[in-house]
Amino acid sequence: MKAFLEWRDDWFLGIGRIDQQHLGLVDLVNRVATSLQDPRQPSANGSDSMDLMLKLQDQTRRHFRDEEAFMLEHDYPARVSHHREHALLQAELQALIREIEEGIRELDLETLKSLKHWLIDHVIDSDQAIARYVEQRYRTSPDALRF
Ligand SMILES: [Fe+2]
Repeated sequence: MKAFLEWRDDWFLGIGRIDQQHLGLVDLVNRVATSLQDPRQPSANGSDSMDLMLKLQDQTRRHFRDEEAFMLEHDYPARVSHHREHALLQAELQALIREIEEGIRELDLETLKSLKHWLIDHVIDSDQAIARYVEQRYRTSPDALRF
């Protein structure tokens, strides 16, 4: 079965840990999608859709923290604006979850689509600039890029 959100190889930044975390976030969105297709059927590890959303929130928080540490460590020049973007993204996800919890919004296909855009446009697309920066900076010493 085709995944709701297919990973594309050009999303790889070439930064091991960050790439793994991005793959993990995409996987979680896909698991939310699967759990919605058959809500009576808990996903492989028994979590329901809302558990998965909370897990996504938690992993996003951790990922942003790691990415911020990475940007600091490697003197990424645009890190202040990237931090700010992270804060906004977290607030967006938080608002989405609250709306679902309060019954204002349903965790349905439409919500899932906005989650997909949230992840691709910001979490993954914006990070391409970090990849370009480190590529330039470590062109001659790629070993310095361990993370
Ligand atoms: Fe990221």
